[in-house]
Amino acid sequence: MSERTERREGRERVPSQHSMSERTERREGRERVPSQHSMSGERLDGLSVRDLRVSFDGFTAVDGVSLEVPAGDIRFLIGPNGAGKTTLVDAVTGLVRATGSVRFGDQELLGRPVHKISRLGIGRTFQTSTVFEELTVVQNLDIAAGARRSWATLVRRRRSIPDEVAAALETIGLAGRADQLAGTLAHGQKQWLEIGMLLVQDARLLLLDEPVAGMSHEERDATGALLETVSRDRTVVVIEHDMDFLRRFARSVTVLHAGRVLSEGTVAQVQADPRVQEVYLGHPVDAGSATSGLEA
Ligand SMILES: Nc1ncnc2c1ncn2[C@@H]1O[C@H](COP(=O)(O)OP(=O)(O)OP(=O)(O)O)[C@@H](O)[C@H]1O
Ligand SMILES: [Mg+2]
Repeated sequence: MSERTERREGRERVPSQHSMSERTERREGRERVPSQHSMSGERLDGLSVRDLRVSFDGFTAVDGVSLEVPAGDIRFLIGPNGAGKTTLVDAVTGLVRATGSVRFGDQELLGRPVHKISRLGIGRTFQTSTVFEELTVVQNLDIAAGARRSWATLVRRRRSIPDEVAAALETIGLAGRADQLAGTLAHGQKQWLEIGMLLVQDARLLLLDEPVAGMSHEERDATGALLETVSRDRTVVVIEHDMDFLRRFARSVTVLHAGRVLSEGTVAQVQADPRVQEVYLGHPVDAGSATSGLEA
């Protein structure tokens, strides 16, 4: 049995209920260390990026970025178009060459091929959906889980659903749509399916590139709740432009600008930072005036 299968099968995926006060405590900055254990006893790892640099033909898209995302955080990565957000995620996941260091727990990721990084528990979504539209929801999850079944078996209607797939279906709220073709899902549901595909792969670091772009209000709320659920035993990094969504669900924020870290802290700290206001508005916010996307 492969290490992955073992890990998958040994895993309890029943989402536990948190009280409101526990959640508030988490959001308001309970101390987080680089590695810790979740309530279910799973090891939680943090992401540590040091002096990361990515250049394309002499143009430096990521220019010496260092950041620490503690285990179990929901870190939002924001910044204007071209700031280097997606390139940073590409570097972490091995899609572009980079210098510096990227560690998840005690593992160095830089220099490893994409599939090895993925096997270390790093999962990412793209802004455009990558689900198989002609297959059902459950078939998409099965493929992601790497179930060793032939395609003929796979495309036949399933009689029983593997535990980890069933658990992911519940977590992403698509249990009632298991047999629906993924191509017929609403936009938001496709993003949830993508997240579910990372869950069945046992991703312990989720990097989501603009997950709520194009979503309705209700879909955003559901996505935020999903992020809170998955972060109980995973570390989550979200690239997002939607400030309302950020204010509601970020536990911490890093602002990138022109390939560098411009500001970092809580939502309130980042919103109050004149350098951030300058980049977003072209000028700092005068007290009592101006409305910006950054205001609470
Ligand atoms: N493969 C590439 N070759 C050349 N330049 C690239 C490549 N990928 C990204 N860039 C450039 O690197 C810079 C950062 O791009 P990136 O996609 O990381 O920005 P971003 O912060 O994700 O922006 P957005 O909010 O628009 O998605 C941009 O100037 C972009 O044009
Ligand atoms: Mg981008």
